Amino acid sequence: MHKLARLGMFAIAATLGAASAAHAQFAKPEDAIRYRQSVMFLQAQHLGRIGAMVKGARPYDKDVAVANAQVLEQLARLPWQAFGAGTDQGGQTRALPAIWKDTAKFEGEQKKLMDNTSALLKAAQTGDLGALKQAFGPVAQTCKSCHDDFRKD
Ligand code: HEC
Repeated sequence: MHKLARLGMFAIAATLGAASAAHAQFAKPEDAIRYRQSVMFLQAQHLGRIGAMVKGARPYDKDVAVANAQVLEQLARLPWQAFGAGTDQGGQTRALPAIWKDTAKFEGEQKKLMDNTSALLKAAQTGDLGALKQAFGPVAQTCKSCHDDFRKD
């Protein structure tokens, strides 16, 4: 096999291994639910701290913006592994059944959040409040659009 192809296979195997290991970490569905809700809560906290600066409720501070954007970029990758099969709990959480029916759309919203939080971090690193403001909107909008379709009020 070509060396690069072999490397590619290895990367795929490693990624799948990491994903299933993460999945296997939930001892019971309740743990997965608590995990995803906890990450969502943290996202709201860290986005809110950037939002306060964007809206002028707090003085702008580049370091604070970067620190929160870094956490947010990492958090944006975490909740999705906790929406596995068997974690709908008969509608007892705020997760709507559409998550497991319209999976492609749900995954599209996840990707949008990951892309938009990466862009937010880059904007924060410029040290320009205008750039931060511009990148904040799409992140907040993605939280909202996914909640509109996939979360109970
Ligand atoms: C891809 C879809 C999706 C995106 C994007 C998303 N969320 Fe959520 N969020 C959900 C779903 C689904 C739930 C309900 C989870 C449950 O109850 O099991 C939820 C729940 C929440 C909750 C309630 C958590 C709790 O304590 O029960 C908060 C707060 C929240 N999200 C904030 C955010 C913020 C802030 C963002 C953007 C930075 C965001 N979410 C992005 C799907 C999404």
